[in-house]
Amino acid sequence: MASEERVLEALLKEERTFPPPAYFVDKALVKDASIYEEAKADREGFWAKQAESIDWFQKWDKVLDTSNAPFFKWFVNGKLNVSYNCIDRHLNTWRRTKAAIIWEGEPGDDRVLTYQDLYREVTKCANVLKELGVKRGDRVTIYLPMIPELAIAMLACARIGAPHSVVFGGFSAESLRDRINDCQAKLVITADGGWRRGGIVPLKKNCDDALAQCPSVEKVLMVKRTGQDVNFVEGRDYWWHEMMARAPIGCEPEHMDAEDMLYILYTSGTTGKPKGVVHTTGGYLVGVAATHRMIFDIKDDDIYWCTADIGWVTGHSYIVYGPLANGCTTVMYEGSPDWPERDRFWAIVEKYRVNILYTAPTAIRAFMRWGTEWPARRDLSSLRLLGTVGEPINPEAWMWYYKYIGNERCPIVDTWWQTETGMILISPLPGVTTLKPGSATVPFPGVEAAVVDNTGKEVPLGSGGYLILKSPWPAMLRTIYGDPDRYVAQYWSRFENVYFTGDGARRDEDGYFWIMGRVDDVINVSGHRLGTMEIESALVDHPAVAEAAVIGKAHEVKGQAVSAFVTLKEGIQGTPELANELKAHVVKKIGAIARPEDIFFTAELPKTRSGKIMRRLLRDIAEGRVLGDTTTLADPAVVAQIKEQYESKE
Ligand code: WTA
Repeated sequence: MASEERVLEALLKEERTFPPPAYFVDKALVKDASIYEEAKADREGFWAKQAESIDWFQKWDKVLDTSNAPFFKWFVNGKLNVSYNCIDRHLNTWRRTKAAIIWEGEPGDDRVLTYQDLYREVTKCANVLKELGVKRGDRVTIYLPMIPELAIAMLACARIGAPHSVVFGGFSAESLRDRINDCQAKLVITADGGWRRGGIVPLKKNCDDALAQCPSVEKVLMVKRTGQDVNFVEGRDYWWHEMMARAPIGCEPEHMDAEDMLYILYTSGTTGKPKGVVHTTGGYLVGVAATHRMIFDIKDDDIYWCTADIGWVTGHSYIVYGPLANGCTTVMYEGSPDWPERDRFWAIVEKYRVNILYTAPTAIRAFMRWGTEWPARRDLSSLRLLGTVGEPINPEAWMWYYKYIGNERCPIVDTWWQTETGMILISPLPGVTTLKPGSATVPFPGVEAAVVDNTGKEVPLGSGGYLILKSPWPAMLRTIYGDPDRYVAQYWSRFENVYFTGDGARRDEDGYFWIMGRVDDVINVSGHRLGTMEIESALVDHPAVAEAAVIGKAHEVKGQAVSAFVTLKEGIQGTPELANELKAHVVKKIGAIARPEDIFFTAELPKTRSGKIMRRLLRDIAEGRVLGDTTTLADPAVVAQIKEQYESKE
């Protein structure tokens, strides 16, 4: 069964409900369901009220400008600075000495930065950026491991108005190169390396390889993390610690317009080329701060930990910007959950007395597999709220999380959103919403989501279709960097005047949303978003390959695994060695996250008469299903043949 069908089947049987526990409601920040009605009655008023909790240098004139839809503007003419909101405004309060970031490195080293410390480091870094020639509007690519310098660098960019583009440390040199070139970055911030399962990820080496083909980059700022010998290009490369040692403390924050770009973040779509999702300053900060505060029920004494990597949007919005804007203590961990042992997450919860934990279903499924003895050896009694993000959570994993991590005491917020949405859009409010395992429940106040059929008509409760958003929200992407047409075509053209998410969903009789997964050529491997076309281009880049079709095949732990069907050039044999070589080729082109789990050599691929590869049928084969509709195939014999070979291989 395809993963979403598996989910669907489990979900249809799912009838358990979990109302918010009394002890939780008692102290909850939001405990009155009337917030939904209020927001519905006056959506813009609701968002304006949320914007009051941000510090503005100049207040906005208008909450939402729809005159040039779908290029919406929020908080028109408002002026603010994100780093000021995440740091400076806390300094005049008791939070000055509060831990802003609690960081733990994979080898076990740790650092705590108070808001005052963060001010010092960020303003120094901002001065370093200026010294290296970065000006307001210049793009800076950040390719760092999960170390405090990553958050510091982002905030320093925000301080001087230089949009950052963070590239996940697991991406290859070639992926880094393409992302640098797309945004024409002037500076790259990297490290010698990062730790992963005791080994070194050679970030500087990848960076050097990338920069051979990045003419826009003038300078490189390098953090010393792992300490091995690295190549150093005089006049281009600068050590972070040397520059920071001389940099003065204090740097006036730029007054940015609400609609000025805060960052670009690349994500996979339905074409071979990743797209640069553009987020801006005002609406984004309002959206992430409000959702973070209300969905995670943030109190001033909380220790909050989101286990994502900052290389993904979850880390941007819910490790850095949302939590720091709220003056919260945010935990950052550098490494792997199974290093040195499989209880590392639980050791971190115990060590820092984490209260709120936000992680991914794929991690929960791995923990389930590793067994309950690992969490059982640690004291998890500090936890009071749990969250998940990134993919549909199967009710079984939900129940395991609820029971073995939350001790049947902690509500779980299953949060649906995307790189493009910038902020969580569908999620319970833990003091209000009755939970159903496997459902992201209902749209956040002020958000209008719906499920529609092929023609754009809303489906009746109890049925499924496409998930859409009926009206703009403050943290929405504003465009695709350098490609506004693609922004319109991709998101605002499938149905009239609404945003198309690319996800399928069902609504139950209570109106709850059950997200079924992607309906486009995007696959979700361990919560990482990959484009099938991207991986196919990486495969056909290999000299032995004629054609390739990539699908996401249902996988116990990862949700989906990359599975490739490959035809080879005339006279080349499909050997296990070649399969390994192709896997390595994909890793080199994209990064280890895209490595195919299996490669199946076939003489032909099933195509429609117009030549389109029918991946859907390949998925049916890979997941052992009865073949779907084959009437549009140019040659139905091809698919029957592949099926037979595939099954004899299994
Ligand atoms: C999926 C990650 C079900 C969905 C924040 C979406 C989810 C894609 C959930 C975006 C959830 C994310 N339940 N599916 N709670 N959260 N997704 O851009 O398919 O990396 O479209 O953003 O992840 O992935 P992205």
